[in-house]
Amino acid sequence: MGVSIEGVGYYVPQKVLTNFDLEKMVDTSDEWITTRTGIKERRIAEGESLVDMAYKASLMALEESKTKPEEIDLIILATLTPDLSFPASACLLQARLGCNKAYAFDISAACSGFLYGLEIASSLIISNRAKKVLLVGAERLSQIVDWTDRATCVLFGDGAGAAVLSAEGEGELLASAMRSDGSYWDILYGERCGYLRMKGKELFKLAVRSMAEVCEEVIKRAGVSIADIDLVVPHQANIRIMQALAERLNIPMEKAYSNIHKYGNTSAASIPIALYEAKQEGRLKRGDLVLLTAMGGGLTWGASLLRF
Ligand code: ACO
Repeated sequence: MGVSIEGVGYYVPQKVLTNFDLEKMVDTSDEWITTRTGIKERRIAEGESLVDMAYKASLMALEESKTKPEEIDLIILATLTPDLSFPASACLLQARLGCNKAYAFDISAACSGFLYGLEIASSLIISNRAKKVLLVGAERLSQIVDWTDRATCVLFGDGAGAAVLSAEGEGELLASAMRSDGSYWDILYGERCGYLRMKGKELFKLAVRSMAEVCEEVIKRAGVSIADIDLVVPHQANIRIMQALAERLNIPMEKAYSNIHKYGNTSAASIPIALYEAKQEGRLKRGDLVLLTAMGGGLTWGASLLRF
């Protein structure tokens, strides 16, 4: 029995914050941000909660998969910026959507949240404990970014992505590998009721190495070759990390999807947003072999290889 992504959806706030806007806020430049990260602009939520964004992305995913809210039996929401400390944002989302037969919980795995969620959801589907799962990655990172710190504030943005998963479709999760190493917690963390803090240089090197390792592992376990892969959808943290990863895996950059120039790093939302846009642009089709990979605070990281 395979686990298939039946529908995807996304939402980003209307407000665009460009590199030129940031030039007026901190000592930075469009040139520095573009060459070091690939980011040109990001979206900022104004008057919208995390659940508002997650709700809009979820409606699209439900519609695309032709799923009624009451058919969902589990909601997993990956976020590091919930609206309340409790209850879980997944429960608030459940109420908004009317998924009254589901149970719902949040997971905290930073940028790897969507992949961790995919791993949990597919285990429950394969073991027949859930039939249809709504998996959401949503972030309002603008509320934990220190807007006076040029080393971090240029990198992040807000948004949400969602997917409906079931065993009924044509797709299949072929192999996955998830990891964490808490000894690196202080490389990227959020202060209690404070700001996101990051040691960017160290993170850069660890990100390339660790994502490459899990990607190689899932490719080997699935018994496919690099040349068989149609598309890589990496977490959108930095275009240079994606380039270094592609080089290390020996995958041409044309096979790696990136929309980082428009949204920056949206943490748990970045992979589902990218999946949605890749599909819209015709870069991701049914039957394609897709490699997803992410790395984030924890440190957490992982890779999943799917027949889409
Ligand atoms: N504008 C201008 N100059 C800047 C800026 C800025 N916005 N930010 C830093 N600088 C300066 C630094 O002060 C430094 O100056 P100095 O040489 O005089 O000391 C210089 O630019 C170089 O800084 P570095 O930190 O060495 O720059 P680097 O090339 O490493 O790029 C970056 C920094 C973009 C943060 C990179 O290290 C990176 O992308 N790291 C990974 C981030 C990441 O992957 N995050 C993912 C996880 S996020 C999550 O889980 C929520």
